Order: sequence, then structure tokens, then C-alpha cells
Amino acid sequence: MTKPSASKQSPPPHRTVRVDLGPRSYDVLIGRGILETLGDELQQRQLTGRAVVVTDSAVSSLAMTNAFWKTDAPSKILVPRLHGGIANDRIVPPGEESKNLLQVHELLKTWARQQIPRTGVVFALGGGVIGDLAGFAAAIYLRGIPVVQIPTTLLAMVDSSVGGKTGVNLPEGKNLVGSFHQPSLVLADLDTLKTLPAQEFAAGMAEVIKYGVIADRALFDRVAKGVKPDDDDLGEIIEKCVAIKARIVEQDEFERKGLRAILNFGHTIGHAIEKATGYKKYLHGEAVALGMRAAAWLSHWDGMLPLEDVQSLGKALIANNLPDHLDEPDDSNAIILTHAILNALGNDKKVAEDGKNRWVLLKSLGEAETDIQIELRDVEAALNKLLVPVR
Ligand SMILES: NC(=O)c1ccc[n+]([C@@H]2O[C@H](COP(=O)([O-])OP(=O)(O)OC[C@H]3O[C@@H](n4cnc5c(N)ncnc54)[C@H](O)[C@@H]3O)[C@@H](O)[C@H]2O)c1
Ligand SMILES: [Zn+2]
Repeated sequence: MTKPSASKQSPPPHRTVRVDLGPRSYDVLIGRGILETLGDELQQRQLTGRAVVVTDSAVSSLAMTNAFWKTDAPSKILVPRLHGGIANDRIVPPGEESKNLLQVHELLKTWARQQIPRTGVVFALGGGVIGDLAGFAAAIYLRGIPVVQIPTTLLAMVDSSVGGKTGVNLPEGKNLVGSFHQPSLVLADLDTLKTLPAQEFAAGMAEVIKYGVIADRALFDRVAKGVKPDDDDLGEIIEKCVAIKARIVEQDEFERKGLRAILNFGHTIGHAIEKATGYKKYLHGEAVALGMRAAAWLSHWDGMLPLEDVQSLGKALIANNLPDHLDEPDDSNAIILTHAILNALGNDKKVAEDGKNRWVLLKSLGEAETDIQIELRDVEAALNKLLVPVR
């Protein structure tokens, strides 16, 4: 981690988190207005081969119309001083539906037609959908070419752009096809968040709160007050989250030691809520917010987390415009939903071979423990707690 720095020509200051993975090491740059420094950053890293840009149509039109994006086409902001030339942008429809093998196939065919060589560089400009899709295509094109992640959602900045997990969905389930492919550079320009819808920003805040509760009490205390896109310390907050993820990824790059599991706090019930509501009612981060609140109750009953900390977590969710309870119109709807969530939990792809869910629970706000077994009746009780708003 470094402090913000400014040089004589005063390029916008940025923070750097180094992800140390030997030959696959890279920097995550975080700052306001730093897209304009991308050309220099690429040159410093010899990422000057032919560039291809992958983005979605919503981000692309913002890139063209917003003054602070400083351009008239995504590829122009992204590769202003690139020697290798720019291949066409590939623009996919926004949303999770684009994260599929058909889009991967289209990307691969486009790059092959354009004869993008192994030295080519893929730029993933967008949220986690674009990062996962473009990252996966980059991982398999010519057995792997570099990808530069330019996350434009808060979730992508603190989570999906870092750590090297790439992939797409199958009709049978989410993220079932993928590969580990670390980026060569991640550049998070906070100015891009100015256009992010408030609900998407809030969903990203759920992951930020997650980092606080699993690893950093001071971070939790700060974000519990609520965070807004133009807060002066947003860069510092994102840096802390990225550093927490980086240190975990460094110890368990390929998710073989179970250490990355800690990042799934709140996700067991979160995923089940997403599934039980058909991926329509809640954004991922919103479902994780609910999952974290349920997991906080489980942590309390398991004898670790004080009741006041369960309350603090709930209040932190509210302060960040996240749902704190399952808002069902009546009792019968609530019962149906609770059953659907329990059912989805049974089908969780992360259920161990013995058929039991392994839980990440909190010892305290700022410290988590993995691989804990929980009785089904406690899970039911936690879901019932989710039917009641935080007081
Ligand atoms: N690889 C990983 O480690 C990892 C980790 C977490 C999540 N993910 C994946 O990330 C995806 C979710 O990412 P997401 O939440 O960023 O969703 P997303 O990429 O769908 O972006 C959300 C919406 O915001 C729009 N958008 C993006 N940037 C914008 C901006 N600056 N201004 C205005 N609108 C903007 C997009 O067009 C989209 O409609 C999921 O597919 C999930 O599986 C991956
Ligand atoms: Zn998540």
C-alpha cells in the first residue's frame, strides 16, 4: 500500500496496491481522474501491443457522452498513446445475460479475424460482468493474452477486477465455466462511479462492509456511517478492500487451501436468496447484505459475536441504503420464500462432499472464521430473523 503521490506535471494522484503473485504480480491503481494516465501506465509495463476493448452498451454510451470520461469512444480513452494500434471495440448488452459462452465465442472470433497476436492486450471496461467475460476470453484466446481491468462499478473495483477469477454462466448455473487469469494491471478511476446508479453503488457497499467485518474493524466503523461516491476517503476505503483481497489471494491464488473462502462471508445465504428470488428481486450485493445479517445471527448463536455487533451490522446496512430484511407482503409469502431459500441452500455448489454447508462466521466485527458447521434449525431461525427489520 502506498500513500497518494503527485509528480511535477501533476498527474492525478493515485494509490497503488501491489498484488504479489511472483511472475503474475500486478498493480491495482486507485484514484480520481486516473484514466488519463493509462497510456503512461501501460508503457511503463510494456503493455503496448494491439488493444481490444470490451465493454457494455451502457458504459460505452456514458464513455462517449460524459465530460469526465474525456473521450468520444471507449478505445480512445483507454489507449490514448498506444503504439500497437486499436482494434474495434466490442460492445455487448449490459447485464448478467451477456456473461455466456456465446459472447465468449463472438469475442474470440472477432479477435481471430482481426489477427490480434499474443502480445495483444484486452481492456475490460465495465462492471464485473465485463471483467469476467473479457477476462475469460483473454484467458483462453491463444492460450492466454494479457487483460487490463478498468472496473467502473464499485463492486468490480473492490472485488471482481482483483484476484484473477474469470468466467461465464451456463443455463445450469452461475460461474460454472471459468479460469484463473490474473490481470496485468487494474485501473480504478473513481470518477467513473459518478454515473453509477445509486442502487448499484449500494450493492458494491455490501462487499465493502464485508471486508470490514471479516478483516478490519476500523474500516467497518468508518463505512458503518455510510459512504457516498464523492466522499473524500472513498479511494482509501477501496484501497483497504483491495489490499485485504490481495493478501488473501496471495496466500491462496487458486483457491486450493480454503483461505479464499473467507471472502464468501454472507454469500451462502446471499446466493440462496438470489436463487430463490429468481435473480430478479435483489442485486447480488443486496442479497449479500441480507446474507451477512443472517450470518451475523448465526455467529451470535454460535457463541462468538456479541448481540450489539449483530445490531451494528444491521445499522451499517441501512446507513448504506442496503436491505436489512426480506420485505415480504404477508406471512404466507414469507413462509414460501423461507422454504425456497432453504431449498436453494441445499443445492449450493459450495456444499461439501458430505452434503453439509460450511459457514464463514464472525468471531467479532473484524475477524472471521471459516469451515463452521451449523444446525439446520439455526439456519431456519436466522432466516426468520431476516423477516424482521433492524430496530
Ligand atoms: N471474478 C470475481 O472474482 C467476481 C467477484 C464478484 C462478482 N463477480 C461477478 O461480477 C458480476 C457483477 O458485477 P457488477 O455488479 O459490476 O455488475 P455489472 O457488470 O452488470 O454492472 C452493473 C450495471 O451497471 C452498469 N454500469 C457499469 N459501470 C457503470 C458506470 N460507471 N456508470 C453507469 N452504469 C454503469 C452496467 O452497464 C450494468 O448495467 C457478476 O457476474 C458476478 O458473478 C465476479
Ligand atoms: Zn459477492
